Amino acid sequence: MVKICCIGAGYVGGPTMAVIALKCPDIKVTVVDISTQRITAWNSDQLPIYEPGLEEIVKQCRGNNLFFSTEVEKNVADADIVFVSVNTPTKTQGLGAGKAADLTYWESAARMIADVSKSAKIVVEKSTVPVKTAEAIEKILTHNSKGINFEILSNPEFLAEGTAISDLFNPDRVLIGGRETPDGNKAVQTLKAVYAHWVPEDRIICSNLWSAELSKLAANAFLAQRISSVNAMSALCEATGADVTQVAHAIGTDSRIGSKFLNASVGFGGSCFQKDILNLVYICECSALPEAANYWKQVIKVNDYQKTRFVNRVVASMFNTVANKKVAILGFAFKKDTGDTREAPAIDVCRGLLVEKGQLRIYDPQVPPEQMRKDITMVRFDWDRNVALRSLGDDELKQVTVVHDAYEATIDAHAVCILTEWDEFKSLDFKKIYDKMQKPAFVFDGRNVVDVGKLREIGFIVYSIGKPLDAWLKDMPAVA
Ligand code: UDX
Ligand code: ADP
Repeated sequence: MVKICCIGAGYVGGPTMAVIALKCPDIKVTVVDISTQRITAWNSDQLPIYEPGLEEIVKQCRGNNLFFSTEVEKNVADADIVFVSVNTPTKTQGLGAGKAADLTYWESAARMIADVSKSAKIVVEKSTVPVKTAEAIEKILTHNSKGINFEILSNPEFLAEGTAISDLFNPDRVLIGGRETPDGNKAVQTLKAVYAHWVPEDRIICSNLWSAELSKLAANAFLAQRISSVNAMSALCEATGADVTQVAHAIGTDSRIGSKFLNASVGFGGSCFQKDILNLVYICECSALPEAANYWKQVIKVNDYQKTRFVNRVVASMFNTVANKKVAILGFAFKKDTGDTREAPAIDVCRGLLVEKGQLRIYDPQVPPEQMRKDITMVRFDWDRNVALRSLGDDELKQVTVVHDAYEATIDAHAVCILTEWDEFKSLDFKKIYDKMQKPAFVFDGRNVVDVGKLREIGFIVYSIGKPLDAWLKDMPAVA
């Protein structure tokens, strides 16, 4: 029986390994992590991450050919294939701070693999890493190998949170990069055989190591760039009276452009987009390509601009002040169907409103209250100027209440801000909400989920990203 061990039981490692176990009953899959809390959760009824469809798969496979363990070294030593799926945050100190990936976790995982291994292994890069990381890891492994053969592969994960299981079941492609040597090719074929249990062969792309590593950064940069493009367009739509949804539909019907990923929003979030672009920027800068670096920087600048623009719009519309006004925040996760808040635009929007002394009442169906508080007060880093931003403290936290229901959040509120596109926000009874709000009642829709016409009929003043402004908003221009 082939044995797989995955180091890192996070958003990538957990779902990916669960699906491999489900699709490959002849393979024993063990997911290990240094966090006892995470592993305990994976072994309980309350999984540490929320992902539609995941729980059923874990329940079906756990204890059969899927195991979660804190015995990192033992399981790595036993495995034929070791996936490394540890976190790779952006460095906040030292050389490359604000842009380069922090490979501390990766390096310690690699040293541990070399230390404990007694048999040959295929080591697979699963977490997103800068180009040429495999080369660095290979050096660590071979210098410490005691004669054991390690083959390094890059097998970037393209799953998106919230749709992880369907993405894994039916991927557009699986990418495997390896060394172009006989041993390298053999390792690629071994990993290919794992995916071939359920992925059609023509969707398994094999390449060299660097191409695979760079493709992951490139794919995320292209996706993020689409969102910044449509968001930049949304600002122009508001200024000119065009409707960004109509523009996106019109351009998206061009098969060369395509219709996906053209939803204007308050900004993109998630653990990957900003981090991967910053990584790309850093690699371009280190390769003496400042023009290429500046091009990609602009994608994040537009994303920051979009969040600031939203806050300014809220404040400007409400007579230039939200001090002591109650603002309902609907949605905190970085997108719907996940409890993940990493780089969620809600963090910056809430911080912006708190600095303006707004009283926030936040509701999200999946994000725990303590996570919201942690996110709001954590030290934020200005990637462009390379400095830490002012951190918020207890005073600002007193302005935050977390509630368990969207209606509760809106009672007595002056304004409602929609920051995540949860389906349940589409079917809210806005008449009921309006009746219990202060007047004039405002809705600021950062995800274009509400029916603007209907809400205006009820009596709301409505701002929806990239949509024609009503007379009130036109009279109160917001400058980003
Ligand atoms: C992304 C990539 O899609 C995935 O391939 C990669 O493996 C990891 O990074 P993820 O961050 O989970 O996945 O979610 P994604 O659906 O890409 O959304 C990222 C952000 O963009 C979210 O905040 C989302 O709300 C926003 N978004 C997405 C928009 O604002 N508009 C869109 O049209 C699409
Ligand atoms: P991702 O979204 O990339 O999956 P996460 O932060 O959700 O990232 O998960 C990464 C996991 O890797 C964390 O649970 C962390 O505890 C784990 N981890 C980091 N370093 C090690 C290590 N050396 N050995 C085992 N697990 C590790």
